Amino acid sequence: MALRQIRLEGDEILRKKSRVVEVIDDKIRELINDMDETMHDANGVGISAVQVGVLKRIVIIDVNYDGTPSLKLINPEIVKTKGKEECQEGCLSFPNKFAKVVRPSEVTVKALDEYGKPITVKGKGLLAEALCHEIDHLDGILFVDIMEPGTLEYVENSQKDEKE
Ligand code: NI
Repeated sequence: MALRQIRLEGDEILRKKSRVVEVIDDKIRELINDMDETMHDANGVGISAVQVGVLKRIVIIDVNYDGTPSLKLINPEIVKTKGKEECQEGCLSFPNKFAKVVRPSEVTVKALDEYGKPITVKGKGLLAEALCHEIDHLDGILFVDIMEPGTLEYVENSQKDEKE
């Protein structure tokens, strides 16, 4: 495993659309492991492959930080949403910046795991927020695009549960 460089605000790759993963092999699993390590090293709760410079539809999420494995989702798609809630959101590509974003309060996502097995994930609260935030990254959409106007702020010592 290795840490990868996180692409930051202003990097044009963050605006690109990621491609569907057709073949899930050891190279993809190595990328997934590197993303997982990079996310934890940066105290993030989610990361998308584009944030480490790879335009593939892969996201990693860990909202627990209790030692249980992260969610590893390949080609994730939101198939159902319910409700609405306002979240305070940040992003590993926007260090120390946060804004209010309205997201569904519950989402259902279909994806493949790192061995190509179809999985369904249902999330509420922070997990729902992270799923939406990371899947947006795969289409080049950033939280600052959909934030509530005027809510962007700079916070020096941020907590991990807001960085995606
Ligand atoms: Ni992000």
